[in-house]
Order: sequence, then C-alpha cells, then structure tokens
Amino acid sequence: MKVLVAYFSETGNTEKLAKAIYEGVGKVEKEILPIGEIKDVAPYDIVFCGFPVHVSSVPVKVHPFLKNIPKGKKLAVFATHGSLRKGPLAVAAFDYAMSLASNAKVIGTFGCRGKVKPSLLEQLMKKPEHRAWAEQAQSAASSPNEEDLQDGKDFAKEMMKKAH
Ligand SMILES: Cc1cc2nc3c(=O)[nH]c(=O)nc-3n(C[C@H](O)[C@H](O)[C@H](O)COP(=O)(O)O)c2cc1C
Repeated sequence: MKVLVAYFSETGNTEKLAKAIYEGVGKVEKEILPIGEIKDVAPYDIVFCGFPVHVSSVPVKVHPFLKNIPKGKKLAVFATHGSLRKGPLAVAAFDYAMSLASNAKVIGTFGCRGKVKPSLLEQLMKKPEHRAWAEQAQSAASSPNEEDLQDGKDFAKEMMKKAH
C-alpha cells in the first residue's frame, strides 16, 4: 500500500492539515508533496489531495492535478476554508473537486477551517463575491487548531481502513 498526500497551500493552513493527514496514514510507504512537484500518481494506491477553498471552489492550480487522476484511483479530498465546517460554502468546493476528478474513486472528504490574515479579510469583505464566507471567517482566527488537526489524523485513519 503506497500513499501520496498532495497539497496546495498559499498561507500554510492546508499544509498543516496535510502534515496531520500524513501522520494519520500510519506506518505504510508514503510521501507528502506540494502538487506542483508531482509528476505521476500512477505508483500510488491512495491519493489524498488538499487545497484551500477559493471563491467557493477549487484553486485553478489544482484543476489539472484532479483532472489527471487515472480511472479508478482511490482519492480522498481535504480542504481548509474560512467558512463553517460542513457549511454549504465549503461543500460547493468539494462537489466541484469531485466533478474535476470524475475518473477517480472518491473514498471520502474532510474539511476544517483556516484563518485568513485580518488585513486581507477586511479587503475581501468589501467584495460581494467574498462577503458571505469572509463574514464567517472572522471566527476562524486560530484555525486550524489542535482539534482540527486531530480530526484530520482520524480522517486519514478512516480512509486507510476504507481503502483496504
Ligand atoms: C482569495 C481567497 C478566496 C477565498 N475564498 C474562500 C471561500 O470561498 N470560502 C471559504 O470558506 N474560504 C475562502 N478563503 C479562505 C481560505 O480558504 C482559508 O483561509 C484557507 O485556510 C487558506 O489555506 P492556505 O493557508 O493553505 O492557503 C479564501 C481565501 C482567499 C485568500
């Protein structure tokens, strides 16, 4: 069983979650890499793919990676987002990720909140396309926290059981 944890992260939140997931995967052959450094996912049995939610969707840089996942490959999707856990603003991005990776066999998804720098948040709040999530994101100032990272580890364990 060979596992890849692939992630894209601009400010470090998704990278933190990726590291927790990597730990949670346990004692198997595994690698953790930023998406830009991955050439081929063929050698892996399970791929975890993580990104920050951007405008209720998947960042454009992550699209080719998801689109190129080969048919039947087991895929677990994770994300960080400023909006509430399991809320519609985050769920929309998971749905889109799954449509991009339409060849993959998606085995699960996990999301937790991630902080946005207050100065940036203030600017984004002024833009109509960002207001809904940015209002919620004000209460994510200390995320991802220890509990989020533990939940990420537990998600990884659950995915490993499911993939066997
Ligand atoms: C340009 C931009 C757009 C964002 N759009 C959303 C969004 O639509 N919904 C949401 O919940 N969070 C949104 N966020 C918040 C990020 O998803 C969140 O801060 C995430 O944890 C950042 O992860 P990173 O540190 O790995 O880059 C946005 C952040 C930025 C900078």
